[in-house]
Amino acid sequence: MKKERIGFAFCGSFCTHKKVLEQYLLLTQEYETVIPIVSESAASTDTRFGSAADFLKTVETAAGRSAIRCIRDAEPIGPKKLLDALVIAPCTGNTLAKLSGGVTDSTVTLAAKAHLRNGRPVLLAIASNDALAGNAENIGRLLARKHYYFVPFGQDDPEGKPCSLVADMNQLRPALEAALQGRQLQPLLLHT
Ligand SMILES: Cc1cc2nc3c(=O)[nH]c(=O)nc-3n(C[C@H](O)[C@H](O)[C@H](O)COP(=O)(O)O)c2cc1C
Repeated sequence: MKKERIGFAFCGSFCTHKKVLEQYLLLTQEYETVIPIVSESAASTDTRFGSAADFLKTVETAAGRSAIRCIRDAEPIGPKKLLDALVIAPCTGNTLAKLSGGVTDSTVTLAAKAHLRNGRPVLLAIASNDALAGNAENIGRLLARKHYYFVPFGQDDPEGKPCSLVADMNQLRPALEAALQGRQLQPLLLHT
């Protein structure tokens, strides 16, 4: 088992939860310590993709521990240096914009801020319909920001949703290994 301690933060891109959970489950078998973190929206919203209760149960059972679900519980990530890397997958447009703007009024963004104070990597797996519109500038800012890495992403439906970008969740684990070594997995941009 790998020794690096991984924080895994889920946001409310519900249509991608199934694919992300597949990778998360593999990570929990690969790394000794995986600490789940769940956004307020992901922890409380029942959608056509499933119930919040089922989602939380899957996440917590696989990690063998309770998920961090509030700002108070995310804060110790900084002072206690709890993580070697923080994965945010899926990362919504909402959370992306907050990270870019230094807003920390949610569990996941505070987890990122607390973790970044230790100068350690944050890996984003974006999934947002406005990634090539309102959120494009935020992606640009984070690409240029120290300690941020991305799971390679591409357009998932260029004709139907021309401004949408989604990370290739199958590349999440190699992107994490690279980020732990201070490298961005390449190619970053995927052809569709
Ligand atoms: C069914 C459903 C699917 C959603 N899918 C996405 C998505 O793929 N990407 C996204 O950025 N937001 C999506 N949203 C909106 C987010 O859940 C919403 O912006 C929320 O405030 C995100 O909070 P968080 O970033 O703290 O998780 C979806 C909402 C619903 C109800």
